[in-house]
Amino acid sequence: MKIQSILIIPLFFIIGTNQLAAETVDTNILEARELVQKFFGSLKNELQSALQEGGPITAISICKLKAPRITKEFSSLSGWYVARTSLKLRNPFNAGDDWENKVLAQFESRKAGGEELNEMEYSEEIMIKDKKIFRYMKAIEVMDLCLNCHGENVKPGISRILKQLYPNDQAIGFKIGDLRGAFTLAKSLSNVDQ
Ligand code: HEC
Repeated sequence: MKIQSILIIPLFFIIGTNQLAAETVDTNILEARELVQKFFGSLKNELQSALQEGGPITAISICKLKAPRITKEFSSLSGWYVARTSLKLRNPFNAGDDWENKVLAQFESRKAGGEELNEMEYSEEIMIKDKKIFRYMKAIEVMDLCLNCHGENVKPGISRILKQLYPNDQAIGFKIGDLRGAFTLAKSLSNVDQ
């Protein structure tokens, strides 16, 4: 009986702590996934209703004004940093940092290797100075709706406005199924460890 409990306790302890470690990572990924779903939902809703009500030209101004606002709202409400980025940018303000650009390149090569974009994600814990940060990215796939403003045959009226607003626009010429960019999220883990 005694020997058994000596054997069982350390074993349980090892399994128990491993599970705990796995759960901490999973909770962050689950939280990030849920936020992405909500964030993407809000953006798509805004876009769809704007396209229905006023057409693509109204929708562009909605995108320009509302996308950054929704992004800020999500960041301040959730305690996470939430944004969108891409290697082919429309708004230079959305440019990624080195880590984000590396992950975007990784997504492109995973896609080239045959992986589906709809579930593609990547996460990592990194140290910035003495702070531990959890970072997460989720691929954004081009769908039908996006072609209005990011496709190969954008209507001249829309194209003109886009050029006016974004003189260095690179986010054009996409096809359905392309990688448009990614949602990028970050959260500080420092408090958890202290
Ligand atoms: C009505 C036009 C319009 C449609 C439709 C549209 N977008 Fe955009 N998109 C924009 C504009 C304008 C911006 C720049 C927003 C800003 O200034 O932050 C943008 C920016 C982005 C960005 C941020 C990175 C960057 O290049 O600045 C991503 C990612 C993106 N769009 C993805 C999509 C996806 C995916 C779809 C389809 C679900 C889509 N867009 C549909 C107009 C549109």
